[in-house]
This record gives sequence, C-alpha cells and structure tokens, in this order.
Amino acid sequence: MFLRATKFYKKIVFRVILLYTSIIFFSFLILFFMVYSFFEVYLDGKISEQLVEKAKSYRILYRQEKLEGLLKQISKEVEILNLSEQFLRIYDRNRGFILSIGDFPSGLEVENFMKEKIDYYAVKKSNEFYIVLYKLSSKHLLIVGKSTHSNNKLLNRLQDIFFLSSGIAFFISILGGFILTATITGKLKKISEIAKNISNSMDLNSRIKITGSGDEIDDLSKVINHLLDRIQVLVNTVKETSESIAHDLKTPIARIRSSIENAMIKNNLSKDCTDLLGYVLEETEIINQMIADLLTISKIESGAYSLKIEDFNLSEAIRRLCYLFKDYASSKSVEVSCDIQDDITIKADSKLLSRAIANIMDNAIKFNMPGGKVAVSLSREQKGISLRIEDTGVGIPPDKINKIFEKFYMVDESRSVCGSGLGLSLVKAVVEAHGGEISVKSKEGKGSTFEIKL
Ligand SMILES: Nc1ncnc2c1ncn2[C@@H]1O[C@H](COP(=O)(O)OP(=O)(O)OP(=O)(O)O)[C@@H](O)[C@H]1O
Ligand SMILES: [Mg+2]
Repeated sequence: MFLRATKFYKKIVFRVILLYTSIIFFSFLILFFMVYSFFEVYLDGKISEQLVEKAKSYRILYRQEKLEGLLKQISKEVEILNLSEQFLRIYDRNRGFILSIGDFPSGLEVENFMKEKIDYYAVKKSNEFYIVLYKLSSKHLLIVGKSTHSNNKLLNRLQDIFFLSSGIAFFISILGGFILTATITGKLKKISEIAKNISNSMDLNSRIKITGSGDEIDDLSKVINHLLDRIQVLVNTVKETSESIAHDLKTPIARIRSSIENAMIKNNLSKDCTDLLGYVLEETEIINQMIADLLTISKIESGAYSLKIEDFNLSEAIRRLCYLFKDYASSKSVEVSCDIQDDITIKADSKLLSRAIANIMDNAIKFNMPGGKVAVSLSREQKGISLRIEDTGVGIPPDKINKIFEKFYMVDESRSVCGSGLGLSLVKAVVEAHGGEISVKSKEGKGSTFEIKL
C-alpha cells in the first residue's frame, strides 16, 4: 500500500496535478486577500465618512437651534428612521449623558475629550463599533456610532464565496490536471509498452505508430523508430560478422585438428610427440569452445540470439544439476546441499539458463577449499523467483567484485583452475536476456553468494 503510494507520488500525473492545483489555490488566495482588504478598507472609510458627515450636520443644527433644536431633530429621526445598528449620545459636562440611543460600547473615556478644542473630532474603530466623537461646545460632546455587524456580515459572505469557489476550482483543477496529463502520459505509456515489448521479445521489426498529429510525442516516436532502424542494422551486422568470424576461425581450427588426428593415427611417432600432439588437440578444443562461448555471449548481448522460450521446470533442472555436480564436488572434498521449492516453472530458454546456473555451481565448487560447502536454494518470493548459490570458498576481493562479469576476467589467473573467464559473462547475458538480475556478495577467505532473481 505504502509502496503504491510512493510510486504514485513519482508519477507525472500526480506532480502536474499538484503543481496545477497549487498554482490555482495560491492565485485564489492572493485574489481573495486583495479583494478582502480592498473591501475592508473601503467599508471602513465609507462608514467613518458617513458618521463624520452626520456629526457635522448635527453640529450645524446645534449652532443654529441650540441643544433643544438638535434633540428635537434627533427624536424625529429616531421615529422615522431605523437606527437599530446605530447609537447616539450627547454628553453634558455637568449632567453626564443627556441623550442615549442604541447600544453603547463600554469603557469609552469621554472626559478627556472635553479638554479638547471646540469642533475637535476623532474617529475610532473597535471590533464591534465605528465611533465619531465630536466636541460641539465647551459643554457638550456628541458621540455617533455604528455597529460593524453589517460590515462583518458582508466580509464573512465574501469569505464564504471564496471558500466555495476555491473548493470548486480545486476539483476542476484536479480534473483538468488529470485529463491533461492522462492524455500525454497515455501516449507515452503506449510508446513505453511498445519499447518494452521490443526489448523483451527482441522483435526489432516492430515500430511505434506515428499518429500524424505532428506533436512532440510524434517526434519522439519518430526518433525511437529511427533508433530502432539503426539498432536493427547493427544487430544484423553483429549477427553476420559473428557468423563469418565463427566460420572463418572454426574452419582452420578444424583443419588443424584433422591434420593432428591424421598424424597421430598414421605416423609411427615417438611417445613425446604423441603426447605433444594430444596436448595441442586439447587446446584446439578449448579454443573452439571459447569461440563458441564468445559468439553466444555477443549474440545474446546484441539481441541477435533467438531464445527458445518454453515452459521450464526450474526446480527439477536445479535438482538435476545438484545431482550431476555431486561427484565433481566430492572429488574436491566439497559438500553440496540443495534446498529447492517444488514445481517452480518459468518461461525460459532451458538449455541456456541451465548452462548459466551450471557455471555458477561450477565456480562455487572450483573456487572452494577441501572440506568446504556449497548451498543451493531456490524459492518463490514476493517479487519473483530467487536462486542462491552460496559457497565457503576463497571469496572475491572487494575491489575486483565488479569486474568478474567482464569477458576473460579472472581474479587471479594462477588460481583459476582451467577456465577462460567467460563463464560469468555468459551467466549475466543469459539472466538479463530473461529479464532477470544477478548479484554477488563475497568475503575474501570466507566465501561468496551469487543470487539470481527472475
Ligand atoms: N564462487 C566464486 N568464488 C571465488 N571466486 C569466484 C567465484 N566465482 C567466480 N569467481 C572469480 O571470478 C572469475 C570469473 O569467473 P568466470 O566463471 O567468468 O570464469 P572462470 O570460471 O575462471 O572460467 P570459465 O567459467 O570460463 O570456465 C573467476 O576466474 C574467479 O576468479
Ligand atoms: Mg566459471
């Protein structure tokens, strides 16, 4: 579950959607803050302005018709207008508040204002009220105010609209991002599937279909097709060259062999001479084998080798190999043990894969010490099939472990008892041609473990 989540996190679809929605979300957020602050400042200014205007008009009335006239006008306004969110106070220095309409904010210090000059006014804003204090005369102070309730309501509404619209935009952006990337990645997926099929089957005649849309994906398909054309030419060249090399080398070696055989049969040679000719004959056989191995490796690596894929009972094949190697192992005083899970069948080139496994087992015995052990185990695991060949042999030095899969590489040539250094190159080529992996862990003087995962 966690693995699937981390895999999805790496997908282009996820990244594009994340980027897309983040851009839309942050654009919305910035827009919201701009609109919200504009409205907040605008409403503050507007209401303060209205209150100051009102206070000024009361001030004019106060001058013309004195306090009585102002009180009359206010009581008329209260009767006619709805002043539910507003409040009005007139403060008399001697008598305290002589008029009070509406809710009054607590804790408002009015005494200080009485010390100010006539016509002095101040605008104040708390969380709940806008207030204008106006000094009408040395005796009277006018206080007009309005609750912030309706403003807050408007701003809250704005906030709700933002949340709703950003929610909708969020879903649209996910959908949009998904459709956008799914179209692109869908095309890429098709290309990668075809490329995978070509790589697995080595059918170099397949090509990616050009849709003719002229987009970047079509360009990519054309480049891949062109690459395939060139690979096909190269593979054919490798095939032809290796076949002709094989033929050109094998023919003179065959001639040498038959000449030696004829010489050994017909002529009455001395024992030394016969021994020498016998040795040359053996060496030509080794050269023949090396040429054949080298050709097989080159062909597998280049894809020119046609694998004969069939149902292959790996459990049985490894059991048989263990049995076959037992005599050779006991001649070297090495003990071979096998722990093989039953009926593990795969699709593989049985001959080639058996040969590769045999090489690892051969190495495990060959590079072992008298009294040593070789443990072969085959099991089906969550990610595939695992074959481990563990030995208690001489081991491989850490600085040389990466080279052992190279052609003709031998850790210590004097140590290598009859070998050409081609075995592990063949193993690697075969395992990779079957879509598998080979790895090795080793400790010098303690032993090595080769693991093939299929
Ligand atoms: N199990 C092992 N323990 C220690 N060294 C090893 C082991 N397997 C491989 N090596 C080292 O890696 C080298 C390469 O192995 P590889 O099988 O390719 O060649 P080889 O066995 O020498 O020759 P060939 O397999 O062609 O007969 C060996 O020469 C040996 O030095
Ligand atoms: Mg070998």
